[in-house]
Amino acid sequence: MTAATGNAMTPTNEITRSDAIVLFGASGDLARKMTFISLYHLARRGLLDMPIIGVAFSDWDDETFRAKALAAIEATGTKVDDATWKSMASRMTFVQGDYTKPDTYERVKSALAGSSNPLFYLEIPPGLFLVTVQGLHGAGLVKNARVVIEKPFGHDYQSAVDLYAELMKLIDDDQLYRIDHYLGKNAVQDIMVWRFANRMFEPLWNNNNIESVQITMSESFDVSDRGSFYDKVGALKDVIQNHIMQVIGLLAMDPPSKAEPEPIHAQQLEVFQSMRPVQPGDYIRGQYEGYLDVDGVEEGSTTETFVALKVHIDSWRWAGVPFFIRAGKSLADTATEAVVVFRRPPLRLFEETDCPDPERNRLRFRLGHNDGVQMQVQALDPSSHMASKAVVLNVDFNEALGEEKLPYEQLLGDALEGNATRFATQRIIEGTWTALAPILENPGPVEVYKPGTMGPESADEMIREYGGWIQPIGPASDMPA
Ligand code: BG6
Repeated sequence: MTAATGNAMTPTNEITRSDAIVLFGASGDLARKMTFISLYHLARRGLLDMPIIGVAFSDWDDETFRAKALAAIEATGTKVDDATWKSMASRMTFVQGDYTKPDTYERVKSALAGSSNPLFYLEIPPGLFLVTVQGLHGAGLVKNARVVIEKPFGHDYQSAVDLYAELMKLIDDDQLYRIDHYLGKNAVQDIMVWRFANRMFEPLWNNNNIESVQITMSESFDVSDRGSFYDKVGALKDVIQNHIMQVIGLLAMDPPSKAEPEPIHAQQLEVFQSMRPVQPGDYIRGQYEGYLDVDGVEEGSTTETFVALKVHIDSWRWAGVPFFIRAGKSLADTATEAVVVFRRPPLRLFEETDCPDPERNRLRFRLGHNDGVQMQVQALDPSSHMASKAVVLNVDFNEALGEEKLPYEQLLGDALEGNATRFATQRIIEGTWTALAPILENPGPVEVYKPGTMGPESADEMIREYGGWIQPIGPASDMPA
């Protein structure tokens, strides 16, 4: 590994900032929705003083590239700062080309003249990851480069292993950054800080005190115009294997020795190595009514738009504590939450004889809508003689902590700096695929559910004895945010 391509695991004095950024897939959806605005934010903070090269098959030129980027930034409602934009636009150029053709990479090379350690961001279909890195390698462009690859990395354990082996013929491991935008969310990374920067939670964070953990990623919107992408992927590969597994890694890991990539990744890896492959009967797949009519979806497709599963982590800390996960589209609300549900106190002291059992304490991490944390505890109900009632302590991160960076702003900024802390390692990726392998091998049928519900009813069955699913607090919820 050359000095110029070190990441945060290399000694600090060897880290060099990337000096150009190349976006493969510059005319795609992700670029329009996330990348341009994130780059603009980086530029606004003075962190993007470098050439920005877009590459795509679309018949664009430099001017179209700039116009599309500006339109995408403005579409987010951002008031564009003229000086920032002018400076950014003056450094933006476009290379039209086919990723399978060597001359595309020769043109990228010319556009990169003067750059010695570029960052290549591959926001392209997974089937093109390898061919693109091969093209870059063929043009002699990877020597001092960083390569950021979108998800999914592989489509199962073996393909992830194979893709990695092929990539390692072309680049070194510490040049490769597997991006997962959930790891760029402040509220997601906060799970680790909340646990380990406070004294009061960690002593309780085990199977003596925690009964179950629930993670819900609920989206009220449907697959929309992404039918041809989504139908090949489904909820499991789209959001569970990556986003939700990373959330579990942060919730379940042991404390790292330092807040640095290697110890953090080592503790997260332990979680996935202790995760029992999901058992048949511990998962349910659903498909919303109407999915089969979406453009790009195959006739009779059995791709899931909803999945619910129960995961076990066979470690001393977590033995006997189920992690319930559900994610889906066309559900009742849009919100992502992880809720840690504590056991009831050992003795029922304050409840009057005809009262139901007191509620279990809950710690609710809000990861997608009104980021923050809520703690549900019991307090004396003034209308009773001596009965307890659930009350909620709420922290809204925006109010308490100020504006957060956008996930891609955080992650692309980190990658430009060579900081790998918020990126998944190969072994973590392989661990997540191993845990999910039984579903991939034997997916079973999909149950149809009505849009606007919380998925098939059988998903409720799986968690009934643990008190049922806790509804996430999204815009459609009547609970206090
Ligand atoms: C993407 C998935 O990775 O994450 C989408 O491809 C999903 O299907 C999105 O909607 C959710 O991200 P967020 O940040 O809105 O929760």
